[in-house]
Amino acid sequence: MVVENYKELSQKSAQMFYQSIINKRAINLGLATGGTPVGFYQELVKFLKGHDMTECIRTFNLDEYIGLSKGNPNSFYTFMNDHFYKPLNLSDDQTFIPNGKADDLEDESSQYETLIQSYGGIDLQLLGVGENGHIGFNEPGSHFEQRTHVVNLKPSTVQANARFFNSIKDVPKKAITMGIGTILDAKEIIVIANGEHKAEAIYQLVHGEKSRNWPITALKGHSNVTVILDEAAANKVKLRQAT
Ligand code: F6R
Repeated sequence: MVVENYKELSQKSAQMFYQSIINKRAINLGLATGGTPVGFYQELVKFLKGHDMTECIRTFNLDEYIGLSKGNPNSFYTFMNDHFYKPLNLSDDQTFIPNGKADDLEDESSQYETLIQSYGGIDLQLLGVGENGHIGFNEPGSHFEQRTHVVNLKPSTVQANARFFNSIKDVPKKAITMGIGTILDAKEIIVIANGEHKAEAIYQLVHGEKSRNWPITALKGHSNVTVILDEAAANKVKLRQAT
């Protein structure tokens, strides 16, 4: 789906989430952080605010930096709290995100995986994409079967995320992320991307071969994926003319 601009991309993706939420009595949402979904959260909060249906939502985030406490302004927990949990008054027992300060990170990863399974898996997953094609923090070269695990971030990812920190030196070099196998288990996936810097990753998803060099191409093996793009992110994709 190609939309005109970022506002429309945010509205369209939020509307699809809202529809799924109101159609279900209970829903497990897989959520992403980063620059792309900021507008999505604003719109979804607008849709949901004032409704009592937020009780039926459970959220599971894709990833968290290792070494940042929940209270750290750059943690993904803080991002989620500011953009989604707090505005909707979601409680701690509905909102889950890996603990990047856990003493045993391997154990934290497998417990997070088990937690998702114990609630019946993810119904609807939101994904952004890295310029290098990463989904969650599954960097190029990742195996498509992997479950939640600890990752070393590629220098290009550290560089891309430095814009959120005071200095590139402050950007953590490791994270816990749902694996591609975990992501592919979601019943439905919505990918959002805007800007020309995402165009190559989107090209690989639409026209490329399934390849570990471009983790996003793992989604080719999923039966229910919607990709919402602005025109810049879609500019390498050969679109069919509507007839
Ligand atoms: C964030 C995440 C990442 C981002 C990707 C794009 O939870 O899992 O895969 O979606 O790095 O980030 P932005 O949106 O900042 O370009």
